Amino acid sequence: MINLKINTNSVKDFITENEIKLFEAEVDLQRKKIYEKTGPGNDFLGWVDLPEQIEPELFDSIEKDALDIRKKSQVVVVVGIGGSYLGARAVIDALSSNFHNAEPQRQGNPLVVYAGQNIGEDYMHELLHFLNDKEYSIIVISKSGTTTEPAIAFRLLRNHIEEKYGEDHAAERIFAITDASKGALKKLSQTKKYKTYVIPDDVGGRYSVLTPVGLLPIAVAGFDIRKLVEGARNMQAFLKKEQDLFKNPASLYATVRNILYRKGKTIEVMANYTPNMMYFTEWWKQLYGESEGKQHKGIFPAGVSFTTDLHSMGQYIQDGVRNIFETVVRVEKPRHHVTIPGDNDNLDGLNYIAGKRLSYVNQMAEEGTMLAHVDGEVPNLEISIPHLDEQVMGELIYFFEMGCAISGYILEINPFDQPGVEAYKKNMFALLEKPGFEEQTLKLKERLK
Ligand code: PA5
Repeated sequence: MINLKINTNSVKDFITENEIKLFEAEVDLQRKKIYEKTGPGNDFLGWVDLPEQIEPELFDSIEKDALDIRKKSQVVVVVGIGGSYLGARAVIDALSSNFHNAEPQRQGNPLVVYAGQNIGEDYMHELLHFLNDKEYSIIVISKSGTTTEPAIAFRLLRNHIEEKYGEDHAAERIFAITDASKGALKKLSQTKKYKTYVIPDDVGGRYSVLTPVGLLPIAVAGFDIRKLVEGARNMQAFLKKEQDLFKNPASLYATVRNILYRKGKTIEVMANYTPNMMYFTEWWKQLYGESEGKQHKGIFPAGVSFTTDLHSMGQYIQDGVRNIFETVVRVEKPRHHVTIPGDNDNLDGLNYIAGKRLSYVNQMAEEGTMLAHVDGEVPNLEISIPHLDEQVMGELIYFFEMGCAISGYILEINPFDQPGVEAYKKNMFALLEKPGFEEQTLKLKERLK
């Protein structure tokens, strides 16, 4: 059984059951292409069976290294960008205290910080300065091993850590996750004798959170990676077996969003009411944006955190251009219990909710917002999970991965490549005067005059 539920009640004003039913054959076909590996990008379908195929030895090895890292580090720097970064951050943030970075030691965990996901000079200066007096380790992640942002960050961090501990001891604090045989990071790791983990060839970056890419940082942060994978395994088995479109949440999600897209709802806003889920939304945005935005097609994935953004983006969602639908990720039970106290003077006028839990108020905000948005012609889909733990996060991850693959195939694009990200890289290299880009350098510099 799975914990995740999908609720389509609030799209019923916009699409009929019959419209969904008409997609049955289409979804069957796309599912077949995924499981039989016959669709576009079929050499990147390793994630489909991945949860089930993780060997016990991999868990053992990751847990052993995570323990070693935790023992010797106050801080762990996770270096990576895109799919080599967002999955780990999404899970760590979802499962941690909202203030874990302010007081990680008290919880017995190292502080996890991130680098290589930007090229901000102040960010890097401040990180290096922060690390000066900390015991730390580095997990560097890059499937290609050649991505510029993490490569620059790692060069700077490598100099820093080697200066601090000496080259040999620094090598014991550096863990690299990369391709089995190719790329600069692989070569560097072999030369410097870093412990390395492999990202399977057939798993693309944004589908890699359940490989060492996500598992090592998540284990270092103190979470149970076996439970995470168990959740994903449950979802994997359930989605594979369930043929009925109305009972298979990934098929239903992919179908509903494509019907809405065909009706002009070209933007999907993921909304959460749980601040810990902000980076999960970022992971989802990357998964869907990079997978679907191709050939001038695709739903634009956006994200909001409610109720915070009801005081900003809420206006637009309620009342702006009517090309939006909303997917709410609802966490039913919070981890803790906070009740609104009574007050004799009642100067703030809040006694009408005295004795109520904050989660009750949050739920009323969520239900009220959903009704208001539906009235404003914004269809609402709800994905609900009972609480936040490793098992449920594993389910959620696999559900959205499968939903993305089916949805991408319905859109008739390849959800597993990312040709569009090359354009900025080529221009950046040309402007940086990288050897081999001379002609383009001249052209671009002329355009920038
Ligand atoms: O999903 C993807 O493939 C990308 O977002 C990559 O993860 C990202 O570009 C980082 O690539 P790499 O791991 O090769 O450094």
